Amino acid sequence: MSERENIGNQAAGGDSAQDILLRCKGICKGFPGVWEYLILDHIDFEVRAGEVHALLGENGAGKTVIANILSGFYSLSEGQIYLRGKPVTLRSPRDGLAQGIGMVHQELMLVPTLTVAENVALGLKAGNFTFPLHRVERRVRELAEKYRLQVNPRARVKDLSAGEQQRVELIKVLYHDPQVLLLDEPTSLLTSGEAQQLFAVLREMAAEGKGIVFITHKMEEVFQVSDRITVLKLGKTMGTQATSQTSREALSRLIFGEQEPLQLEREPVSSEQLSLQVKGLQALGPEGTPALKGISFDLRAGEILGIAGVAGNGQSELVEVITGLRRATGGQVLLGGVDMTNRTSRKIIEAGVAHIPEKRREVGVVEAMVVAENVVLKDYRLSPFSRHGVLNLGQITSHTRQIVRELGALVPDLWHTETRILSGGNIQRLILARETWQRPRLLVAVHPTEGLDERAITLTWNLFLTLRQEGTAILLVSEDLEEVFALSDRIAVLFEGQLVGLIETAAAHKEEIGLLMAGAKQID
Ligand SMILES: Nc1ncnc2c1ncn2[C@@H]1O[C@H](COP(=O)(O)OP(=O)(O)OP(=O)(O)O)[C@@H](O)[C@H]1O
Ligand SMILES: [Mg+2]
Repeated sequence: MSERENIGNQAAGGDSAQDILLRCKGICKGFPGVWEYLILDHIDFEVRAGEVHALLGENGAGKTVIANILSGFYSLSEGQIYLRGKPVTLRSPRDGLAQGIGMVHQELMLVPTLTVAENVALGLKAGNFTFPLHRVERRVRELAEKYRLQVNPRARVKDLSAGEQQRVELIKVLYHDPQVLLLDEPTSLLTSGEAQQLFAVLREMAAEGKGIVFITHKMEEVFQVSDRITVLKLGKTMGTQATSQTSREALSRLIFGEQEPLQLEREPVSSEQLSLQVKGLQALGPEGTPALKGISFDLRAGEILGIAGVAGNGQSELVEVITGLRRATGGQVLLGGVDMTNRTSRKIIEAGVAHIPEKRREVGVVEAMVVAENVVLKDYRLSPFSRHGVLNLGQITSHTRQIVRELGALVPDLWHTETRILSGGNIQRLILARETWQRPRLLVAVHPTEGLDERAITLTWNLFLTLRQEGTAILLVSEDLEEVFALSDRIAVLFEGQLVGLIETAAAHKEEIGLLMAGAKQID
């Protein structure tokens, strides 16, 4: 059981039929031609009025697909959805919203160039009349106030942080006042403070009698916020239980089966060789204001430096400048002693830099390409994948097969599966495999385990420690302090574009790092 206080379990209704808002009965889903088996195989569970119902399962278990079916995005192949005891058919997401079911997606789905209110208005039925924007803005303000979801209706979405965009997604759905709200890994983009705020909002909505379906990989969150839990495994329901009646261990067994627990092992760094030197680095942010204000640090071969800090304090800009995606306006970036400041990303890749980006689907992969193409996306010009300009498909296939197997990614056919259809966690595994198989000089990893199930997280951490042992320097940007502490040799904290601390992990305390992240303290 989690040690944290359980704030759930107050509002779940009794067992009577009228308390059941939403019921899935025998829901099946197949994607003809892609998989020879059912993606969802007779899913059964129900959501009561007044409860937060967690949906758990490893990467690729089918959580996103069932949520998409329950909100009208996908059709079902077999089975029935009941709303308040009546069978319903959902023809589209709009139909789902009209009948009282709304979903907040795993990936943000907003139009970046439009304002918050315009994005909300996009989802409204136009009919014969148009929606006056000021009415939408007013209602957005009311909702924001009611649920304490701070957001300015006139702000452009592209200027908002991931956490703010997440709030906009939530408001967009709340606008339709749904009875059932499905949230697919809503906390993966949030800081821990933002996640706590979201949980308070979810409890409040449950107290109003709504049914909340909450999808996550984070076990503590399940114990903090949910009343009941349904576990999915390979498209089948493994049963529903009350959160207060189960434990972390029991859930892990249900999700992963009886597998050996994985352990982390590490040895001290010995190399003195400098892989990365950052000297007085300056850069502008998206709005043209200074985002990096003279940052300096070194990273040795075989060392992991964790960059902690609340998002929006210069982390993205630092990563972009190092990987050649943003210009430095001052200072230098040296790789293995060679000045690489403002070189192209191709030159930087050739110098041995790998990058696990924050925006996986946009920057990390080309979604319309098949899996094998994405795996060799960066290396297809090199031997053994091509010779005299001709691709060696046999080599590409065996290489892809191997890395897919190593990370346990679930992919039906390497040359026919568009990467778009993979589950969030499986896309992440592909990027990890592609970026690490060549043992890079420097790996820049942003939230590398976001969206991965617990087993895949430990696999990834072990992979990082192996790379480190083999001499790769790793710059780890993560808001997950547990991850930063588990992996890093040293921890640096960014606050408002400056490095406010650089500490040996062995001598660091979480509270101290937390204070630095909040800008409360500065160490030289
Ligand atoms: N449009 C589609 N066509 C074919 N297969 C699909 C499609 N959408 C999803 N799948 C497959 O269905 C399976 C379940 O995927 P789903 O996205 O529901 O997993 P998930 O439980 O949400 O995993 P994660 O935790 O990684 O997000 C995956 O193997 C995925 O590749
Ligand atoms: Mg998913």
